[in-house]
This record gives sequence, C-alpha cells and structure tokens, in this order.
Amino acid sequence: MEALAHDDVIALQRPRVGDAERLVAGRDDEWRRWLGPESDAPNPTACIIVGGSLVGWVDYDTDRTWLQQGEVNVGYSVFAAHRGRGYATRAVLLLLDHLARTTEHHTATLLINADNVQSLGVAAKLSCLEYEPMGASRYFKMPIERLHP
Ligand SMILES: CC(C)(COP(=O)(O)OP(=O)(O)OC[C@H]1O[C@@H](n2cnc3c(N)ncnc32)[C@H](O)[C@@H]1OP(=O)(O)O)[C@@H](O)C(=O)NCCC(=O)NCCS
Repeated sequence: MEALAHDDVIALQRPRVGDAERLVAGRDDEWRRWLGPESDAPNPTACIIVGGSLVGWVDYDTDRTWLQQGEVNVGYSVFAAHRGRGYATRAVLLLLDHLARTTEHHTATLLINADNVQSLGVAAKLSCLEYEPMGASRYFKMPIERLHP
C-alpha cells in the first residue's frame, strides 16, 4: 500500500489489518496519563512507520467544540522504545503536508497538558504559535502547509 506521505526517515500509512491491536499493545503509562482512556479499536488517520515497523500514530479530527472553521485538532503518540528521535515532529509535519494537499483545512491546533513536557517539546520544535490556555492545557496553532510546494 502506498504511503500517505513520507520523508527520509518515516512514512505515514493508513492502518492495516492487525494495526489496531499493535497500537493498543504499544500503549504505556505515558500514553495512559495523557491520552487514556481511548478506544480499544483505534483507527487513527495514519500509523507512523520506520523501517517497516509500526512505531506510533498521528491523527486529526474536526469535531471539538472550540475549533473554528478550517481548523483541525491534531494528536499523536510514539511507542516508548522509539521516543526522542524526532518521529512525532516528523509525523505532524507529514500529516499537515497530506492535509494541505487533500483538504481545505488551513490551521492545525494542539491542545497539550501543561505538564506533558515531551509533547510541549513537539509543539516547540514545530514552532507553533501559543494561544490562551484551556484549563490545564496549553493551546497551540500552526498553519497547514505543504512541506514542498
Ligand atoms: C509526545 C510524544 C508523542 C513525543 O514523541 P517523540 O517522537 O519522542 O517526539 P520528538 O522526538 O519529535 O520530540 C520533539 C521534541 O520534544 C522534546 N522532547 C521529546 N522527548 C522529550 C523528553 N523526554 N524530555 C524533554 N523533552 C523532550 C524535545 O525538545 C524534542 O526535540 P529534540 O529532538 O530537538 O530534542 C511521546 O512522548 C508520546 O508518545 N507520549 C505519550 C502520548 C502523548 O503524550 N501524546 C501527545 C498528547 S498531546
């Protein structure tokens, strides 16, 4: 199956048969702390693939009450053994590239708990603009743009 998008290191690929179980198996305490509880049959926009192996996922939705027209909410997770290698940052950029090519959405938003240091690092690496916090979470936006025109 063709990748949705890829760079030199990772590829984004639609979930395949068996991936939902792999994604559930990859959950850890960090995942539970920041994302749980979630579905037992996850079906994210894309799985993050490195060297043929599934190492995480990236997703977006448009149904949060606070989103404005053209905005999407982005989420991501990388399995513990694969963190700290830039995969989440790359995955968000590739997702936004894919959205820029295939949708009319123009702005990605990230809602991140103020104590989630790793995820805040992703927002910083992506040079997101910070907006007013929502409760215990910090709120960021970035434009949905193609990586290469
Ligand atoms: C958040 C998460 C997806 C980050 O994945 P990742 O692939 O490790 O992220 P990256 O490697 O792209 O990190 C980007 C930046 O974040 C920061 N960062 C990442 N891990 C960090 C850590 N353990 N401590 C401090 N900063 C960290 C760094 O600034 C890093 O930039 P650098 O590569 O120049 O050092 C991962 O930790 C995770 O799956 N957490 C559980 C699920 C979750 O919290 N999802 C997000 C909910 S909003």
